[in-house]
Amino acid sequence: MVTIQTVRSNNAALKDLGPGLVAVFVGGTSGIGLSTARAFVKNTTAPRVYLVGRNQEEATKITQEFDKINPESKTTFVKADLSLLRNVDKACSEIQAREPKVNLLFMTAGYFTTKGREETAEGLDRKFSLHYYARWRFAQNLLPQLTAAGTSTPLSRVVSVLDPNIRTGLVLDDLSLKTHFTLGNCAAHACAFNDFAVETMAAANPNTAFVHAFPGLVNTGLARTFGPVLRVGVGILMTVLKPFMVPLPESGERHLYAATSQTYPPKAKAGEGAALGSDGVKGSGAYWLSWNGERMENERLKGYRAQALGKTVWAHTQEVFDKIRGTEGGKY
Ligand SMILES: NC(=O)c1ccc[n+]([C@@H]2O[C@H](COP(=O)([O-])OP(=O)(O)OC[C@H]3O[C@@H](n4cnc5c(N)ncnc54)[C@H](OP(=O)(O)O)[C@@H]3O)[C@@H](O)[C@H]2O)c1
Repeated sequence: MVTIQTVRSNNAALKDLGPGLVAVFVGGTSGIGLSTARAFVKNTTAPRVYLVGRNQEEATKITQEFDKINPESKTTFVKADLSLLRNVDKACSEIQAREPKVNLLFMTAGYFTTKGREETAEGLDRKFSLHYYARWRFAQNLLPQLTAAGTSTPLSRVVSVLDPNIRTGLVLDDLSLKTHFTLGNCAAHACAFNDFAVETMAAANPNTAFVHAFPGLVNTGLARTFGPVLRVGVGILMTVLKPFMVPLPESGERHLYAATSQTYPPKAKAGEGAALGSDGVKGSGAYWLSWNGERMENERLKGYRAQALGKTVWAHTQEVFDKIRGTEGGKY
């Protein structure tokens, strides 16, 4: 376990990386994304922060707060409903028009739901799209800016926060879950696909590190879309589970560590102190981390890796991107 002292001394030293780090928080208007953005603004010199989400009102409050925490910082809100890939592309273009380099892409956009499949105009399930397709479309679009940061600065990293573990098998003949959607299948596919995405991206982009992190249980706005009865139930559950939860500010500090520590270097910069990557290779550039910075393993995923499922999933992802974004108004 990475101690909180180690986390704090890493974060306190981020000023040594120099001024002008650029971080994009996809889902930065609430919860773990916001708490990590806050820790980033506190610990860096003259950072430029992009918060991507839908909630303009929250974004305005956060911008005012960040201006006070660090008057040299600059926060920009990029308003976008990211459940559609066309909106992801638009948000990325806005950021790319301003920034030649991006040091950190931190992705938490998502939500809890008890509903079944909700098809978007692009033919994907809304939750699955937010937890996987939209996130990796973001990462793929911003690769030139991430690579520019990776070749000229000490920090280039992509972090996706969900859960590297899967508890059930995947539906291999329906990867997008068009006809096999259950909440369990959606969780397994989104988690496993994030796992494979960090491995595929890390192998192809040696100057950027890729992390898939599990946050533990954190009391955030995740249940805000529930009805009043379920919200009361969640409130009671949160009180009972409080001793086992990661406090939100600590979660932000720990995720900032996962997002910046040289323990998780890109493949091309792996030195002596590098952690084991997701495949067990030291400094592989792809890391599956638990809430406390420890490596996560999963026997079922090892089996899938041995079958080269990562390649299949990535090819599927490109096919989805091509179909939806290849033609205006496209659908998968
Ligand atoms: N909290 C936990 O205990 C926990 C445990 C395991 C995994 N996770 C995962 O960790 C991630 C972050 O969770 P959290 O607890 O920080 O959630 P949260 O507080 O609800 O924050 C979610 C963020 O996603 C954004 N978002 C949701 N729908 C969006 C959309 N259609 N377009 C653009 N942005 C959207 C929200 O922004 P707007 O409202 O501005 O759109 C918000 O900033 C989620 O994927 C969650 O499944 C959380």
